[in-house]
Amino acid sequence: MLSEGSSFFKGVALGGLFCLVLSLLGSFSSPRANTEQHLHHHVMAPSNKDLQDLPEDQMLELTNKVRVYCVIMVTPKLLLHWVATNNTWSKHCDRPVYYTSETSKVMEAVDLQEPDEWARMRKALNHAYENAGDLRWFFMARPTTFAIVENLKYLLIDKDPSQPFYMGHSLKSGELEYVEYESGVVLSYEALQRLVKIFKDDDMCPERGRALWKVSEEMQLAICLKYGGVFAENGEDANGKGLFNSRSVQAMISESMTQNPGNVLEACCSDLAITFSGMSPSQMQVMMFGVYRLRPYGHDFHDSLVFLPPKGSDND
Ligand SMILES: *[C@@H]1O[C@H](CO)[C@@H](O)[C@H](O)[C@H]1NC(C)=O
Repeated sequence: MLSEGSSFFKGVALGGLFCLVLSLLGSFSSPRANTEQHLHHHVMAPSNKDLQDLPEDQMLELTNKVRVYCVIMVTPKLLLHWVATNNTWSKHCDRPVYYTSETSKVMEAVDLQEPDEWARMRKALNHAYENAGDLRWFFMARPTTFAIVENLKYLLIDKDPSQPFYMGHSLKSGELEYVEYESGVVLSYEALQRLVKIFKDDDMCPERGRALWKVSEEMQLAICLKYGGVFAENGEDANGKGLFNSRSVQAMISESMTQNPGNVLEACCSDLAITFSGMSPSQMQVMMFGVYRLRPYGHDFHDSLVFLPPKGSDND
């Protein structure tokens, strides 16, 4: 009883904080204002300048509040990627959980014993929902993806997880807008809650496809979410560059070198990118070094928020 009561008050306090922050952010006149009418399909992080004006204790509350449950979909076939993911970016998730199609002797995971991709994704998301505890954001990725979790948290900081968010790199197929699986899928608690409910309705969201052709799991997910009134949104930075990438940094830089030889890095990728994909295990280690270890001594990035590194970690 007592713990229920205290979590209720915690909820009220957090809710209050949210309103405060939202109204604070809303009251700044930001360059985002003119994109507001498109907000449904394009999501951006708040501007750094807006955040700088927040009092320190509120910033601390904010950074502690955004906590991410990582749903990492693995198979023993991708063991080397799995090990690399385990040793690199997933350490920055507040809770990294591996979901596998079959048991691996080397790695610990929730064994779903399910070869079908779509059925496995459903089981994993059900499991994540049931084990969410007080975590309110979910990030689903494959082990070939490299994610910079702090940048994801920055994108989410002014978003309310009791609203239905479904974000990543959104693509269109006919009438359907869906989030590409390869570059990572973000779901708020509310979106996941609606989804789990729809999973139970076999007419709207069947576990085994009835269509003559196979619908990919990323599209299945979008179809089921759509029944719950949850629509795909594209994560972008202030310049409209995509934050979720289905390609590796190397591939993106190579392309930029041919298309923008005078301005390779700026044209290539967002400085606040959240994912890159299609990486080899060694490229993932290179990323880890570049993102979390290598630093130009004395350089100041003027960031307003600090997301603390995982417990017990030296610097990575
Ligand atoms: C996976 O990560 C955990 C936590 O960082 C670590 O204890 C474990 O040794 C890792 N497993 C492998 C096989 O690298």
